[in-house]
Amino acid sequence: MAFTLWILSLILSSLTSSAFCATPRRPVDVPFGRNYVPTWAFDHIKSFNGGSEIQLLLDQYTGTGFQSKGSYLFGHFSMNIKMVPGDSAGTVTAFYLSSQNAEHDEIDFEFLGNRTGEPYILQTNVFTGGQGDREQRIFLWFDPTKAYHRYSVLWNMYQIVFFVDNIPIRVFKNSKNLGVKFPFNQPMKIYNSLWNADDWATRGGLEKTNWSKAPFIAGYKSFHIDGCEASVEAKFCATQGKRWWDQRQFRDLDAAQWRRIKWVRKKFTIYNYCTDRKRFPQVPPECKRDRDI
Ligand SMILES: *[C@@H]1O[C@H](CO)[C@@H](O)[C@H](O)[C@H]1NC(C)=O
Ligand SMILES: *[C@@H]1O[C@H](CO)[C@@H](O)[C@H](O)[C@H]1NC(C)=O
Repeated sequence: MAFTLWILSLILSSLTSSAFCATPRRPVDVPFGRNYVPTWAFDHIKSFNGGSEIQLLLDQYTGTGFQSKGSYLFGHFSMNIKMVPGDSAGTVTAFYLSSQNAEHDEIDFEFLGNRTGEPYILQTNVFTGGQGDREQRIFLWFDPTKAYHRYSVLWNMYQIVFFVDNIPIRVFKNSKNLGVKFPFNQPMKIYNSLWNADDWATRGGLEKTNWSKAPFIAGYKSFHIDGCEASVEAKFCATQGKRWWDQRQFRDLDAAQWRRIKWVRKKFTIYNYCTDRKRFPQVPPECKRDRDI
């Protein structure tokens, strides 16, 4: 009896770990100063509740931003952000990971503002070895200016996954076998910023920033970082393969996550470089393995 129960519990635990636990570990909220420092225009960053929440301000003089103290090779990174409310046309709010050198790797969330009541666009991109041009754009299924929502990146040897409130919206698989570079040997820092980009952001640059509405304010919370910290020059992570994000269940999306990504593709996608035959007459290699295109 005890033996049967033991076998049963083994089966159950392996089932739960392989099939139902592919969501990244729950983020831990920490104060701003634990993981981050301001990057520029310090007087345009305001701190609240002992640093548990901060605001970035953009006016006609400057935008502002902050960056992680450490640099990381793989891990799980997330930020709770409340986008600029009201008329945010021309502004861009960003949360991204970037390596330091010329042939840089980058993982981007960029939120493009809009006129009051018109929808924000979330643009994502992945740079590997200095090459980008992998934009995808979606509308969100909620108004990102009304409340905080969580935006996260899971990055391991196998894939880079973009999440919005734990829903995967994009996956970039390691396609080294197809000749596509994958970020694996350059630690990245995490950056956040709010700036004016009215030459391209809203309706392709047609809608200009209305400076009479300044300052534009975006809110940030949570400041979660769970990564393999390495010096900027490091070529590998000392604990490679041993951390939770390296484990089997995080090497691919599970069935439920594939369903959700399809739902995002079908209902919310505005642009996908993978299907842009004008710009890319040849399908980019990494797009070929994309299950549902
Ligand atoms: C802004 O709103 C217009 C009109 O609804 C829409 O065409 C556009 O995609 C929206 N977003 C951006 C960032 O331009
Ligand atoms: C800019 O904002 C001001 C003040 O709210 C308003 O009167 C004006 O019409 C706005 N301009 C545009 C182009 O929306």
